[in-house]
Amino acid sequence: MPLTEQFQFCSLRLLFPLLLVLSASYRLYDEIIGTRDLTGLTPYQEYIPHQPRISASSSNAKKCQSPGVNSRHVNYTASFLHPTQWMKGEGDIYSGMWWQSIDSMLLTNYSKIGFLEAISFQSFRNNKRVIQTVDWLDVAVEHLSKYVKFFSGITDNEVRRAVEDRVAELIEGYIRRTKERCPPSPIQSAIPSTIAILPLRVSTLEKHYEVRLLKLQLTATIASLWVTGFPRAVIVGVSQNESLVASESFELLHDVTSSMELKYIHVETDDLGLVPKVALTRFQQLILQLAGDNTINNVEIEEWFGQHRPSKWKHVYFTEPDLILHIRPEATQSLSQELDKGHIINAHRLQPLPHTHQFSDIIENISVQNPFSALKLENKVLPNKELFALVHSLNPTDGDVCCDQGKFYPGNLNDSSLPVVKRKGCWLWEFCGFGPNANHSDWNATLKNHELLLKHPFISLVQGTQIPLVHHGQRVCIPRSDGTFCSNVNEG
Ligand SMILES: *[C@@H]1O[C@H](CO)[C@@H](O)[C@H](O)[C@H]1NC(C)=O
Ligand SMILES: *[C@@H]1O[C@H](CO)[C@@H](O)[C@H](O)[C@H]1NC(C)=O
Ligand SMILES: *[C@@H]1O[C@H](CO)[C@@H](O)[C@H](O)[C@H]1NC(C)=O
Ligand SMILES: *[C@@H]1O[C@H](CO)[C@@H](O)[C@H](O)[C@H]1NC(C)=O
Ligand SMILES: *[C@@H]1O[C@H](CO)[C@@H](O)[C@H](O)[C@H]1NC(C)=O
Ligand SMILES: *[C@@H]1O[C@H](CO)[C@@H](O)[C@H](O)[C@H]1NC(C)=O
Ligand SMILES: *[C@@H]1O[C@H](CO)[C@@H](O)[C@H](O)[C@H]1NC(C)=O
Repeated sequence: MPLTEQFQFCSLRLLFPLLLVLSASYRLYDEIIGTRDLTGLTPYQEYIPHQPRISASSSNAKKCQSPGVNSRHVNYTASFLHPTQWMKGEGDIYSGMWWQSIDSMLLTNYSKIGFLEAISFQSFRNNKRVIQTVDWLDVAVEHLSKYVKFFSGITDNEVRRAVEDRVAELIEGYIRRTKERCPPSPIQSAIPSTIAILPLRVSTLEKHYEVRLLKLQLTATIASLWVTGFPRAVIVGVSQNESLVASESFELLHDVTSSMELKYIHVETDDLGLVPKVALTRFQQLILQLAGDNTINNVEIEEWFGQHRPSKWKHVYFTEPDLILHIRPEATQSLSQELDKGHIINAHRLQPLPHTHQFSDIIENISVQNPFSALKLENKVLPNKELFALVHSLNPTDGDVCCDQGKFYPGNLNDSSLPVVKRKGCWLWEFCGFGPNANHSDWNATLKNHELLLKHPFISLVQGTQIPLVHHGQRVCIPRSDGTFCSNVNEG
């Protein structure tokens, strides 16, 4: 090829993808701006405290609501983010959970892990491909513990008690609504052959709020696994404390355990600080023993794997005990195929945000007697005003989707390769604007404090906690409820 022709050919080859990217970003920019007045989405509902219904007939014969398959999602094929979309400069993909085959799990030696997050990062490193879905609603988790801890340290006792009760109520509400649903009937997928492992650590029983909330978070996590259809979960602890909390949690779930096996397992160890490592190490040892001819401790094998059937299990779902799982039932087939290829599934980690929506009645109530405390609480949470008030309430059962756009900053930069830098000394981006001196009466300061958050549309999940959420990895998604699916813009 002559030089000029070659040059033209090259530049054309470069130009074309560039044009595609530019037109795609322009379209996305347009769409994100458009999300501010999305129509057709359920408007956000104020939190309504649950009134316990005491009725003689609400006994065991209770019928659950069938999940139903959304007609638009029949024959659904999930789209996945290309690994480079999150590996190159896209930072934090930690979600606190993973789902992989037992074979691929054995590629990582968990006995050599030095810190909690390495359980994910090392697994990702040893795997051919980490799967994240383009539609967040295909696989996402709601991360609870950070939200729970946010409200500790309120000095006014009366306010603290009301707030703590509300946080507990929000998680209880999720558990109650979830128990009213039905797990999908067993289908040919990876779910019936998956064993779930949940490490638990309870370092004190004396702090009542802490213990109550640990129990509720664990219960919510298990409930989400139950409603997804997982057949067995083992909760692994290292002392009497975990055993106690686990058994109280099982008690809260006693009416659903006919379709799910729950087992608490005690592991003897000196390493009280890293129960996930201890749990996975022990699990791997047993798998290796089963594969070899070593003397096998049958009692322990049965504890982990249930009766008669270690060979039933082909996959492991590992999760911290504070993550509500959401899987679109129709995506299960696609996900199972990825697991069969040896890939590892990593959910989108969604972070609930402290918002007036969940506390307005409490603030109002307190302000009668104690206006200053009420104001302090009001300033602690996001205001119900302007863009802060807009939450896209999504219901996957109605066919709603939320399509990943990567780290793209609506309303600010038109170049997604230039991330907004968070303030110095600030660790989790989504909490950067919540300071002890927050004061919404200085509105400009509030806007400035939360400038990062304001660039990300808030969503909430009807089948989850219903609290406003953003992506922990600072990604953006476009909520849609017009019946269209998400497709991978970079693969299109
Ligand atoms: C789903 O797939 C089946 C078999 O391939 C086909 O008969 C059916 O029409 C498809 N349904 C929809 C809604 O596309
Ligand atoms: C991990 O390493 C230890 C010590 O080297 C070894 O005994 C164990 O079998 C290894 N586990 C796996 C799953 O390879
Ligand atoms: C269990 O809880 C008790 C009471 O709060 C505490 O003193 C103890 O250290 C805890 N045990 C462990 C192993 O963490
Ligand atoms: C409001 O205050 C009253 C009296 O202190 C209390 O009984 C009630 O539970 C409070 N309601 C809320 C939502 O905090
Ligand atoms: C968008 O990008 C162009 C080129 O980089 C720049 O000149 C322009 O100021 C940017 N607009 C905004 C609103 O940032
Ligand atoms: C918030 O700021 C206003 C003035 O901008 C001040 O009057 C008020 O006392 C402050 N509130 C708190 C709780 O510090
Ligand atoms: C807040 O910001 C707006 C726009 O930048 C400005 O016009 C206004 O004067 C500011 N208000 C205060 C009280 O600083």
